[in-house]
Amino acid sequence: MPDWAVPRPRITKLIAEGTQRCPLTIVTGPPGAGKTMALALWAAAEPGTVAWISMDDFDNQPGAFWSYAVAALGRSGVALPAGLSAASRRRASGHMFLLQLASVLAAQSPPVSLVVDDLHVLTKLTVLTELDFILRNAQPGLRMVVSSRVDPLLPLHRYRLAGELTEIRASDLAFSTVEARLLLAQHGSALSADSLGRLMRRTEGWAAGLRLAAMSMDGCSDPDQFVKELITEDSALTGYLVEEVLKGAPPQVREVLLTTSILEHVNAEAASELTGDERAGAILPAMARANAFVQPTGYGWYRYHTLFAEVLRLKLRREYADRVATVHRRAARWYERNGMLTAAVQHATQAGDWQLAATVVIDALAISEIIEPRSSPSLADEFRCMPRGEAWAGPQPYLVA
Ligand SMILES: Nc1ncnc2c1ncn2[C@@H]1O[C@H](COP(=O)(O)OP(=O)(O)OP(=O)(O)O)[C@@H](O)[C@H]1O
Ligand SMILES: [Mg+2]
Repeated sequence: MPDWAVPRPRITKLIAEGTQRCPLTIVTGPPGAGKTMALALWAAAEPGTVAWISMDDFDNQPGAFWSYAVAALGRSGVALPAGLSAASRRRASGHMFLLQLASVLAAQSPPVSLVVDDLHVLTKLTVLTELDFILRNAQPGLRMVVSSRVDPLLPLHRYRLAGELTEIRASDLAFSTVEARLLLAQHGSALSADSLGRLMRRTEGWAAGLRLAAMSMDGCSDPDQFVKELITEDSALTGYLVEEVLKGAPPQVREVLLTTSILEHVNAEAASELTGDERAGAILPAMARANAFVQPTGYGWYRYHTLFAEVLRLKLRREYADRVATVHRRAARWYERNGMLTAAVQHATQAGDWQLAATVVIDALAISEIIEPRSSPSLADEFRCMPRGEAWAGPQPYLVA
């Protein structure tokens, strides 16, 4: 482990307990969530035998996958019959090879742990089916620990139902404030409690975000100010999120992400309204499955990770400057139709459309006067929530109303 690695005993314990109880432990989270580091910290502390393979795009073939797996098991000290490694390379024996491997692994006592890092890269059904076969038939001698950016394409429901699955997710991997302070200290940085709180809210404990911030802060004369300006055109964080997350997204997904990034929460109807594309809403579930920065919040609603949303909004302003006002205006109308007046007025003002903002308020007042002549409490609440001061420096919808 590098000397800047922050020990994470609570995650190490979760993985250790998982491998003691279950044949399969999965560690999932977005790019940079700290999955590999968490597994490496656990492996370094694990007294038992650990074999480790890291996947890349070239390993998405049964031949390549099993020859790496067999080599890693051999290196970790598992005694494998001579013919097995040759068979893994040739794939001549097919099912025989899998049966033989399963029986050797099943006999391991104490069990051997096989780490498969970046399992999301494996998408070929053949390899995944074989992996599932080995896992089911190599008990009690094999523990599999996998990391993946999305739920691996293994029959997780079956393992879950049988109580044979330990799940460690992004929320578990998120750095606590104490861990983040330690990480900053490794880089000689310290922040005031306020700034640390702001950094935690914006990164949501995302490991790569915290470390990139800590590295960029190194030698910075005003770290507190730095935390306020994390996402800029040329910041390391923006670069990481664009390279690792946005670049690989298909054009239609990118379009939906950028356009809907102005919303706090998005559902299918809002996505279609903002993009003007009826099919946009339908891709939200797939987007959430493929990208852990898009998080389902229940009942068909989704939210974007705070920093990811900031980068999307930055890109929207840069790449589609002429579209920003239209998108805010559409959001205002959608919120108004759905009775969310505060949000409607906020988006109308962000569109610079004071006429629309005033209309939303007047219509709401008129309707509430007709329906509830003695003023509606919900409307009163809406007014109390309205932004004041600078945000209202333009024409005053209050006066119009
Ligand atoms: N325990 C830690 N101590 C210090 N830094 C950490 C720690 N865990 C993660 N990080 C920082 O976050 C970065 C991302 O961590 P890691 O590589 O484990 O993420 P990941 O979830 O495996 O990402 P990917 O999906 O890209 O493989 C690391 O390179 C490191 O800078
Ligand atoms: Mg990794």
